[in-house]
Amino acid sequence: KKVVLAYSGGLDTSAIVPWLKDNYGCEVIAFAADVGQGADELEGLEEKAIASGASECHIVDLKEQFVKDFIYPTITTGAVYEDDYLLGTSMARPIIAQAQVDIARKVGADALSHGCTGKGNDQVRFEGAFAALAPDLPVIAPWREWDMVSREDLLDYLASRNVKTSSSATKIYSRDANAWHISHEGGELENPWNAPSKEVWTMTVDPEDAPNTPELVSVVFDKGGLTHVNGKALSPYNVLVALNRIGAAHGVGRIDIVENRLVGMKSRGCYETPGGTIMMKAYKALECLVLDKSAFKFREQIGLEYAHVMYDGRYFTAINDSLLAAANSFAQLVSGEVVIKLYKGNATVVQRQSPNSLYSEDFATFGADDVYDQSHAEGFIRLFSLSSRISHMNKQK
Ligand code: ARG
Ligand code: SIN
Repeated sequence: KKVVLAYSGGLDTSAIVPWLKDNYGCEVIAFAADVGQGADELEGLEEKAIASGASECHIVDLKEQFVKDFIYPTITTGAVYEDDYLLGTSMARPIIAQAQVDIARKVGADALSHGCTGKGNDQVRFEGAFAALAPDLPVIAPWREWDMVSREDLLDYLASRNVKTSSSATKIYSRDANAWHISHEGGELENPWNAPSKEVWTMTVDPEDAPNTPELVSVVFDKGGLTHVNGKALSPYNVLVALNRIGAAHGVGRIDIVENRLVGMKSRGCYETPGGTIMMKAYKALECLVLDKSAFKFREQIGLEYAHVMYDGRYFTAINDSLLAAANSFAQLVSGEVVIKLYKGNATVVQRQSPNSLYSEDFATFGADDVYDQSHAEGFIRLFSLSSRISHMNKQK
């Protein structure tokens, strides 16, 4: 029997390798996705997996596909969960699960496994994707089965199986990193009355320590896709890398929130999304030029709906495809250039232009114009408010 495990090299998945062998008598194939989490997590991963007892380790580079097919949907729909969260962990789960299923098919696996706890969103996202892509493969979720509860338990277990680990008993935060963001949960953050300590943040400079001079960054969009940063043509992934670097230096993209998990409980988390914050603001700045009132209102509704679809792990569903089709049709209008000013944690749009702009200085000016007859507004307002007049007349009766 073969099981493909979504493996990160952290303590949890390191313990899962021998645990699966002990409890299921199976061969364990480790699988890791490169979604831009960085060299410190990926380096030496294969050796580590083999040392834990995996028979193979597959690492798949998904960075460009991650940006094109999983990050862009969030940008074009304008999806923001509960007004703040840019969905960084949520959007990585379906692509990891999809690549994991591909490996499982390739090696002829009998089951899939992951290291998510039974209390979180991630288990739902992984298994939601598995259900859509490989409903025939059983899922093993060790955290819902074993009775280990602490890092000490996991370390004791690894020691009993003679597996060496560099993990320590004290690791304060649960973090999840990829090209779009890093999340931080646990430790003192579990009490929402505790302000996050300096040690929480790892990706961005503290806004208080950021440069005293602002920096301008220019981004160019072509039909919804970001193609240039400061005049330089870059691939979708490299656009994000460049904006992360520039945004992080100015402390852009930090949030500290309490959110509703899908499984009912609230959780407190800090997130850093520097490049993503810039991309979302720039995208919206162009939408403001090219979408009329009713189109923009519909886009807002798409964003609200899509935030829940993505958060709840429903990427491989009909509603996902339908919302993306709508957002993509608006995206065809999103071309142009935006200049954003970065300063002490803020990213502020200061210039924007688009060949599809509906903005007309001739119409909007507060000065004299000869295109707009103000007397036309009177009739419009009379009809627009006609029902209010009728309602008032009724009350007088
Ligand atoms: N609360 C966030 C979400 O549900 C982040 C989850 C972080 N996951 C993790 N395995 N550390 O998307
Ligand atoms: C986990 O519980 O595995 C991480 C947090 C989450 O999925 O919400």
